[in-house]
Parts: sequence; structure tokens; C-alpha cells
Amino acid sequence: MDTPHVIELQNVAYSYGSDALLSDVTLHLAPGSFHFLTGPSGAGKSTLLKLCYMELMPSAGQMTVFGREVSDLRRDDIARTRRRIGVVHQECQFLDHLPLTENLSLPLTVAGRDPAEEAENLRELMTWVGLSTRAQATPPELSGGERQRAALARAVIMDPELILADEPTGNVDWEMSLRLLQLLVELNRLGKTVLVATHDLNLIRAAKSQVSVRVLRIADRTLQLSGADL
Ligand SMILES: Nc1ncnc2c1ncn2[C@@H]1O[C@H](COP(=O)(O)OP(=O)(O)OP(=O)(O)O)[C@@H](O)[C@H]1O
Ligand SMILES: [Mg+2]
Repeated sequence: MDTPHVIELQNVAYSYGSDALLSDVTLHLAPGSFHFLTGPSGAGKSTLLKLCYMELMPSAGQMTVFGREVSDLRRDDIARTRRRIGVVHQECQFLDHLPLTENLSLPLTVAGRDPAEEAENLRELMTWVGLSTRAQATPPELSGGERQRAALARAVIMDPELILADEPTGNVDWEMSLRLLQLLVELNRLGKTVLVATHDLNLIRAAKSQVSVRVLRIADRTLQLSGADL
């Protein structure tokens, strides 16, 4: 049997109100693939990522996540499936009164793992994102780029198979964007499936020189594979 797609959407529609924001969306994310999602502000990029994370459910069409039809999933199935997905939200949200290291270990605690046993992992992860010296800082004490890197670290602490990153380089300079891209490329080389929503065509160009990426674009309420040369 073929390996199932990590995510598969077939003729999916989504609307917040009476008008469809997305319609007839078909998407297949193969294991280990790297996709960018582009499109104008308000086109529905974050909405599409929320569908992939099952924060929103399709208004119409079929959608499977790790081979399971989402409309068949019960609440605990959804919670279990979500642990296989790491999300970098468009606005990084942290608990401002807790030091970074505790913010990062929160997903482990929520999943019932013992943070003490994961301490070494956590230290390695902080080093990987270049934040080992900031472990005791609280999120408001971090710079924008540090927070973005922390958000990526938090997304991958559970060793997810799929990473959904919503504008992960939203508020950082070019050098930091490349650093964050580097981290996403490394994750992809480790076999993780990556989907990144971004406005930044330069970022996509930079990625194309390192890994095989596909570019999806939301236009006219649907998803198109962008063939345009960037
Ligand atoms: N919870 C909501 N209720 C109603 N409308 C919403 C909701 N969330 C988003 N929208 C609307 O849906 C549209 C798509 O929003 P979305 O956040 O998916 O766009 P986006 O492509 O991510 O935009 P950006 O590039 O600015 O992040 C927008 O018009 C937005 O106002
Ligand atoms: Mg968005």
C-alpha cells in the first residue's frame, strides 16, 4: 500500500459566515515534503493551516490527517493526532510570567510527560535555536526574533511529524529570516513534513536553493500550485 499522505484535502470548502472563504481546495502533503503557502493578506492562509491542525473543520469536502478522515475523529482522537503536529502560530503566544524554558516544556507537561526526564532534550533544543543563554528570560524580555525562534522550538519539542508554520519570519530582519528558514530546512532534512505560510517571496527563493519545495497559492478562494518563477 502507498504511504498515506500526511494531509489530504479533497474539494474542501470553508466559510466563517455565509460566504465561502475557501472552496474546492484540494491538497496533498506527502510525507517529507516542504510546501510554502502564499496569497494576499486575508486570502485564507491562516485559515487553511487551522484546518490542517483541526482547529477548524471543513464546511464541505473530505479531509484526512495522517490517513484518518477528520469528520470521524472524536475529541480524544483529535487531541492525539494533534500531538503529531507542531504549530508555529502567526502571533507567538507565551505565558509571559514563566521563563522561556518552562514555556517550552509546557507541551510536555500537558502530554503527561515528565519534564525532568526531558531536560537534556530541552537543553539541546534551546541550543539548536540559539537561545541557551536566554533560558531563564521571560517572553517579554526576548526580542522579536528570539520569540520567533522560541515559538519554533516549542512547536518541535514533541518531535512532531508535521510542522505548520504561519508567517514564522513575520517580524524579523532578513538575517534572522534565513536563520529560521535554516531550522525549518534542517527539520525537513530529518524527514519532517513542512508547510509554511509566508508573504516573503525572497524566503521561498532562498529555500528553493536548498531543498525541493512546492509553492501553493490561494487565489480566487481556491488553492493553486504556483508555477510562476520566483
Ligand atoms: N474567526 C473568524 N471569524 C470571522 N472571520 C474570520 C475569522 N478569522 C479570519 N476571518 C476572516 O477570514 C479571512 C481570511 O483570514 P486568514 O487569517 O485566514 O487570512 P491570511 O491569508 O492568513 O491573512 P494574513 O496574510 O493577513 O495573515 C479574513 O478576511 C479574515 O478577516
Ligand atoms: Mg495569516
